[in-house]
Amino acid sequence: MESTRTAVGIVGAGPAGLMLAHLLRLAGIETIILEARSREYCETRIRAGLMEQGSVDLMDEIGAAERLHREALVHGGIYIRFDGRSHHIDIKGLTSRSMFIYGQQEIVKDLIALQLAAGGEIRFDCSGVALEALDTDTPAIRYVDSAGNGVRITCDFVAGCDGFHGISRPSIPVNAIQTYDREYPFAWLGILSESPPIDPELIYVHHPDGFALFTMRSNTMSRLYLQVEVDEDIAKWSDDRIWSEFHHRLEGDETPPLIEGPILQKTILPMRSFMTAPMRFERLFLAGDAAHIVPPTGAKGMNLALADVAVLARAFETFYKSGSDEKLRGYSDTALRRSWAAARFSWWMTSLTHTFNDRLPFDNEVQLSELDYVTRSHAGAEMLAEQYVGLPIER
Ligand code: APR
Ligand code: PHB
Repeated sequence: MESTRTAVGIVGAGPAGLMLAHLLRLAGIETIILEARSREYCETRIRAGLMEQGSVDLMDEIGAAERLHREALVHGGIYIRFDGRSHHIDIKGLTSRSMFIYGQQEIVKDLIALQLAAGGEIRFDCSGVALEALDTDTPAIRYVDSAGNGVRITCDFVAGCDGFHGISRPSIPVNAIQTYDREYPFAWLGILSESPPIDPELIYVHHPDGFALFTMRSNTMSRLYLQVEVDEDIAKWSDDRIWSEFHHRLEGDETPPLIEGPILQKTILPMRSFMTAPMRFERLFLAGDAAHIVPPTGAKGMNLALADVAVLARAFETFYKSGSDEKLRGYSDTALRRSWAAARFSWWMTSLTHTFNDRLPFDNEVQLSELDYVTRSHAGAEMLAEQYVGLPIER
């Protein structure tokens, strides 16, 4: 068995693990990232694509934003459509901040390339990753490398950035954490279409037959989502059926006609809210999807993952520079406060815009009234805009 050591062992090369490694590298703290999948898999996995200004600022801080600034589409507003009418929310005017469309896999590509160029270590294709001795001063990560050799890495700390299905959260004794779980009675069907966006802004649609969202990846690629049944069978959605449903839910007086294109990708996305508290067990710190997931409405998942590690990196930096573990002890409370705010917002955006079959007619009228309030009242729009654009990251 090969044996090695590092300061912070990071499990997972998603946005959280990669951003953490960069921030620590710039603070002079050594890391090794262990990733279960191949580099190619990580770089091509299609996920959300909407970045908060704060996330872009983090990419700038680590010097990874050059391509992002060249290619990202900058957005100053959104449309909310209901009752057959579109209402513009001027996010930039209300907050002086913007949103950026840039695919998560592009961020992952940029972060991996920069990390390897800077001499950082990412070990791909690790199997059997397991955490040991988390309640000692020398926690360790054990795994089998791509050649079949067993490796043990002793660390000062372990960062669990291995997503919702990783091994970090399950390595914590069940009585040491509390989890909060909420499933929604619907899913999203997402497509990537080779067709230009019909509008420069995103369009969120509340429709009696189900929510729809029009978004994009570039000037030639559209991304669209449809609310579908929770146990939907994708085989039942031919391209024709998908397009006809988008025409039905999206089109009307104020929306430009939909431009159909070849559908390059089709997936069903489950809708769930899940929170873990605290986000720490002894020497293991959870960040990103390993600790929490939010429904995709409002696209907070990746932004939340990046905010977590910004807080965590500052806590490690303080520890290594001054010996004070105060920020490490405060990590969970600080990160959870922002995470609950994002969890609440994602739940609220979902409740505001989706169609619930089990609701009373009264509830449906209240929902329409809330949509009316948010789109007509300055205070209502401001409340949405402040959270949509991203709450500040307190580090
Ligand atoms: N060992 C090593 N790596 C693992 C393991 C394991 N046992 N299990 C999972 N991983 C890897 C995954 O292959 C993935 O590359 O951990 C990484 C976790 O990355 P993400 O799932 O992208 O999670 P995170 O970095 O927290 O980013 C959150 O991802 O799911 C989206 O909407 C979410 O956009 C948000 C973002
Ligand atoms: C996306 O572009 O994938 C996206 C954008 C906004 C959302 C959700 C997803 O609210």
